Amino acid sequence: MSTLAVFPGSFDPLTLGHMNIIEKASRLFDRLIIGVLPNNTKTPLFSVDERVKMITEVVQELGNVEVKSFDGLLVDFVKKEQADCVVRGIRNMTDFDYEVRMNAVNRMMLPAYESVFLVTDSRYSCISSTDVRSGVHYGVDLTDFVPDIVYRLIREKYKENYQ
Ligand code: PNS
Repeated sequence: MSTLAVFPGSFDPLTLGHMNIIEKASRLFDRLIIGVLPNNTKTPLFSVDERVKMITEVVQELGNVEVKSFDGLLVDFVKKEQADCVVRGIRNMTDFDYEVRMNAVNRMMLPAYESVFLVTDSRYSCISSTDVRSGVHYGVDLTDFVPDIVYRLIREKYKENYQ
């Protein structure tokens, strides 16, 4: 039986922490769909279409990973894609607590909903998209935070911060 997992998130932007989870999930499942949804913050770094494009470029070498956008409920996306489970990355107990609650809420709406929690390698456990967005504002060197392709696009789009 072929297994399909969904890895949802806003990925604004994709970080090396996300990549760590994507690489693990691509080894564990036959297919992985990255589900990109709008970021609720008022000032996203990248549009959903830009994020889908850049993530597609970064993950192409993995071979079994697709990138799609969705809006609305995660359970509806899971049903539409007929996924077996949802992958979420866990960096610490705060993430774990949040994800256990989200799993319970989603399972109330979709009883067959299953989460697989993958623990981030410790060197990535302090990375968050929120901090990266803040770093971009101050022109911080993001080499150790985001994939090279993403950092290049950040420098192109926010060149006034990186002179
Ligand atoms: O990694 P992120 O960006 O914090 O991901 C959060 C995500 C996408 C898992 C969460 O915001 C989500 O599931 N959004 C879709 C709306 C939804 O289904 N909410 C849960 C029930 S109210």
